[in-house]
Amino acid sequence: MTAVRMDGKELAAKVREGVARQVSDLGHVGLATVLVGDDPASHVYISSKHKAATEAGIDARDVRLPAETSEDDVLELVASLNEDPEVDGILVQLPLPSHMDETKVTYAVSPAKDVDGFHPVNAGNLYLGTPIHVPATPSGCMELLRAYGIDPAGKEAVVIGRSEIVGRPMSMLLLHAHATVTICHSRTADLAAHVRRADIVVAAVGRPGIVTTDMVKPGAACLDVGLTRTDEGIRGDIDPGVEEVAGFLTPMPGGTGPMTIAMLLESTLKAARYRRGMLDFPGN
Ligand code: GUN
Repeated sequence: MTAVRMDGKELAAKVREGVARQVSDLGHVGLATVLVGDDPASHVYISSKHKAATEAGIDARDVRLPAETSEDDVLELVASLNEDPEVDGILVQLPLPSHMDETKVTYAVSPAKDVDGFHPVNAGNLYLGTPIHVPATPSGCMELLRAYGIDPAGKEAVVIGRSEIVGRPMSMLLLHAHATVTICHSRTADLAAHVRRADIVVAAVGRPGIVTTDMVKPGAACLDVGLTRTDEGIRGDIDPGVEEVAGFLTPMPGGTGPMTIAMLLESTLKAARYRRGMLDFPGN
């Protein structure tokens, strides 16, 4: 078997076109991103997010601050963006420098403008099955499954990784889509035994090639979220040989990454609708 390639680049382009049309209908949509420090990967991610936002007609404000910026200054900036009528969505890029309390900064973002879906109000609503803003990467994985006709209902899904950005929200989305979900992590005793049962595998730990061909059930849908830069280039968590066994596989790169950016734009559009009262923001 050679797996169907789940083309995230192609699907992301469609999503972005749709966002651009809706942004144009709304008139003005604003996104502010905050990047503190010199993390090279974060600079690349933020530049890609800005390029995509600008191409979709979103008014994107790119705030970059030196690593030594104080936590109070960042909190003050976030407070001013919360009040800014030109800003519909706010994203504080992680990781923050180690002298900052990431939780405190993330939680300072107004839930309605929290396009990352990291605030406890948004995380809680996802848990309760009433999602508002949902983290972009798992959201993009669900879009890929939908686009390729893979309905999680009744399927065994294994999520590898329990991060707040990917693993946990991913498991909630799959659960709400009626999959039977197992979350594997660094203390899981026998990863292979779990993965072998899975109809859907989402790997998000940043351990190159941790999912090997012998672990994958024939025909399974495998989504690779792990990304590690090595001397040989970018490597995912899923060994490329898996394509011989899987039914569907995201390429690395060009799979889940482009979808993350597209879903951030969708989230920004949603935030603009909340602010205009076109959607009800629960709890407000
Ligand atoms: N760092 C890695 N992924 C993300 C993301 O999706 N959002 C933010 N804010 N920071 C990140």
